[in-house]
Amino acid sequence: MSSESQPSLLHKYRGVIFSVMSSEELLGSLDSFDAREDDIFLVSYPKSGTHWLAEVIERIPNAGITLTSPVELGDISKFEELRMVPKRRVIPTHLNYEMLPVTVKQKQCKIIYIVRNPKDTAVSMFHYYRDNPNLPSTETWAAFLELFLKGDVVYGSWFDHVLSWEEHKNDKNVLFLFYEEMKKDFVKSLKKITAFLGIDVNDSEMGKIARSTSFSEMKSNAAKENCDPNHVICALTSNRNLVFRKGVVGDWINYFTPKQNRAFDELFTEKMRNSEVGRHLKE
Ligand code: A3P
Repeated sequence: MSSESQPSLLHKYRGVIFSVMSSEELLGSLDSFDAREDDIFLVSYPKSGTHWLAEVIERIPNAGITLTSPVELGDISKFEELRMVPKRRVIPTHLNYEMLPVTVKQKQCKIIYIVRNPKDTAVSMFHYYRDNPNLPSTETWAAFLELFLKGDVVYGSWFDHVLSWEEHKNDKNVLFLFYEEMKKDFVKSLKKITAFLGIDVNDSEMGKIARSTSFSEMKSNAAKENCDPNHVICALTSNRNLVFRKGVVGDWINYFTPKQNRAFDELFTEKMRNSEVGRHLKE
């Protein structure tokens, strides 16, 4: 079914598509969110490894944190719910930079942004659209890819999202991570995270975190936990079973036709021509 025939699942706010689970009132009030100086924001475009990153941070011993649900999920009562969190808050979000609450910028809260190769992100999102009852299912990969390239999907264009955040890549309160690097050398990424958060973690604890956050471990835990409603990281579902699909780099090759690949590369080259992140993703 096309997004037009299921308008109730999605709505547009300031030109960007959101799930109706993010109420217009909440989106319109984001700037009244009261950030705390020690808040940590986990930011990503959907399907870039948000759950993985959140789990890694939750598993850091003695971090003294509480993982909350996304700042943009729910209605206006959200801010009160977040206000009640007694510990240091780790708050996930898929918001682009412009929409991030102004107090987060003013207070220079720590922000970890994770980016993933957009071809794999598109494939992952195609499956999410199909499997997630909160999203309108697209009939074919070709139809979904067209929407993705137009930015006609939840949270808008991958390019706009990444570029909006890339401008802040070198801000001292921002850490940029790549999904592919986390896959290739997990401990290197983990060391970046712990150094950024200023938390000491020894080698044995690092090994433990690596094991407990492997794809297979997380996938089987999701099945066991059976969708803990208090463990919502993505504003598009509370069902963790929908999240763990393949967890690999390069699955796009099984989906893109040569023609689709050329069209994608052309758009990528045009949009990311001045982007360091773009160059990095192409390497
Ligand atoms: P695939 O659909 O390609 O498998 P998000 O958490 O932002 O929704 O991202 C979901 C993607 O991250 C899915 O990609 C999922 O399988 C992958 N993922 C989740 N946990 C992972 C892990 N521990 N290691 C590697 N990839 C993981």
